[in-house]
Amino acid sequence: MSTPVPDATRQRFHGATLAAMLVVGGASLAIAALTLSTLVGIFLPGSSVAHAVSMTGAGESAREMTGGVAPLGPLPAVPVPADNPASPAKTELGRLLFFDPRLSGDASTSCASCHIAQHGWSHFDPLAPGYPGHRLWRNNPTVLNAAHFDRLMWDGTIDRLEVQARSAMQAPVEGNGKADIVEMRLRLVPEYVDRFRDVFGTEWPQLEDVWRAIAAFERTIVSDPQRVPFDRFAAGDLRALTPAARRGYALFTGKAGCIACHYGPLASDQQYHALGVPRQPLFDSSPLVQIAVRWQNAQRDAPRALYRDADEDLGRWYQTRDPADIGRFRTPSLRELRYTAPYMHNGVFATLAEVVEFFDRGGGDGPNKSPLLRPLGLNVGEKSDLVAFLESLSMDEPLVMATPSLPPMLPLVILPDPVRGMHARPDRPAHLVLDQSSGTEATDIDTDPDATAGDSTRTAADSDSAPTRIRYNRYTRQVQRQ
Ligand code: HEC
Ligand code: HEC
Repeated sequence: MSTPVPDATRQRFHGATLAAMLVVGGASLAIAALTLSTLVGIFLPGSSVAHAVSMTGAGESAREMTGGVAPLGPLPAVPVPADNPASPAKTELGRLLFFDPRLSGDASTSCASCHIAQHGWSHFDPLAPGYPGHRLWRNNPTVLNAAHFDRLMWDGTIDRLEVQARSAMQAPVEGNGKADIVEMRLRLVPEYVDRFRDVFGTEWPQLEDVWRAIAAFERTIVSDPQRVPFDRFAAGDLRALTPAARRGYALFTGKAGCIACHYGPLASDQQYHALGVPRQPLFDSSPLVQIAVRWQNAQRDAPRALYRDADEDLGRWYQTRDPADIGRFRTPSLRELRYTAPYMHNGVFATLAEVVEFFDRGGGDGPNKSPLLRPLGLNVGEKSDLVAFLESLSMDEPLVMATPSLPPMLPLVILPDPVRGMHARPDRPAHLVLDQSSGTEATDIDTDPDATAGDSTRTAADSDSAPTRIRYNRYTRQVQRQ
């Protein structure tokens, strides 16, 4: 299941090397910052057409602008793993499943319950809601553009969307879906049986294919560069950014130093840093959150002694077990922030202005804090320019999607098998038995009303009693006895 995605299909930015370049020597950073501010000084304040063109021109000059790291810019095509090729039918099936709460234990919770399209495919609560009776311990990251990340989750513990979908729906605090039960449910939805057969060629829906279909759908949930002001600007439409956003861009790549970690098309180095983000007050006030934090730590084998009885989120440490990774979290993408508030792994900041204040202070306190953070000395105007720039990385309107109407389950009825003239096995849904054989719009079946289900020796033909006529329409899925 966790076959690694072939490198060739992923468009990496060699984040590790580039980040190392910046992280290793304060000196090289200082030089980069110097180069940046010089360039920014030259190109931006005048913001004449000629200057802006040279700023967004060939990749090389953009790379110079960002001190050697991959520049911000439109996202490339979504990487698709070789073992789960995309097709329109698979994406459509994945869309239905993404919205289908029957994947969860009590059929209450779908992916869309937490990843709400109107809220940037994330959730407006600081900490995500959980399965009924639970609360989660982290802020909901967006599904938008998640397909572009090499590793998923705030701590990078999952490496592909297929695995993520399974864990979301089966984790007790999230979907709490029992594999066998959920699979059986899907098998009693005739439309799903047809769709899974079309897409995956299996007789019955298989749970592993559920995660493949959902992942294929998620790979279509990406920012549209035509609708992102910054992407239009980068493509040459100089009026796409307001003067404030342009000034903010100059600060981002220059004085504020954000580009050291937020670079490339995602505006993320895909690395892990500790910023000393303040503690989420719900960790101290909400019993449900405290249960979630302790449960997550127990699941991940965190030693109780570590960090006040493991009531902290240790971040990247869960993956590496390296004390130097305690408190580090994956640099998030800065795309679509207009719709994905609140912010940070624990949702502690409600607005982008609060985030900028935090960075202006030089971050917070905590173990392993990144040496890249330092007080910035931004004035009020510069702070709002930076926010204007961050907002320009979001689409003009959120990518909304209506909740689809979901195909119904149909009860298991026992009908004869028209092919062999025998009775259908009681453990097989009749609509499926008939479906395989008919191929026509409707099937007429003669049957013996006295026959016992499962009796394969008696057929309609050798029965003495008057046959009942059953008409089955495979499109309306109506069964009528006459
Ligand atoms: C109960 C709320 C909830 C449900 C239901 C839920 N998610 Fe999530 N999702 C989260 C939270 C919280 C995280 C971050 C968890 C972490 O970092 O440990 C997350 C993370 C993700 C990520 C990783 C994003 C990134 O940038 O790394 C993806 C993708 C995702 N979810 C997709 C799904 C899919 C698909 C489903 C349904 C199969 C689903 N989620 C169901 C709350 C939920
Ligand atoms: C040392 C690397 C680093 C630098 C420099 C940096 N960031 Fe970040 N940024 C991160 C990481 C890591 C997180 C997530 C931290 C967490 O949740 O604990 C983050 C979170 C954010 C978020 C929240 C996004 C979300 O979806 O929750 C925003 C907005 C942001 N940064 C903007 C900026 C701006 C603006 C600057 C410059 C003033 C900047 N960052 C500088 C690494 C960095």
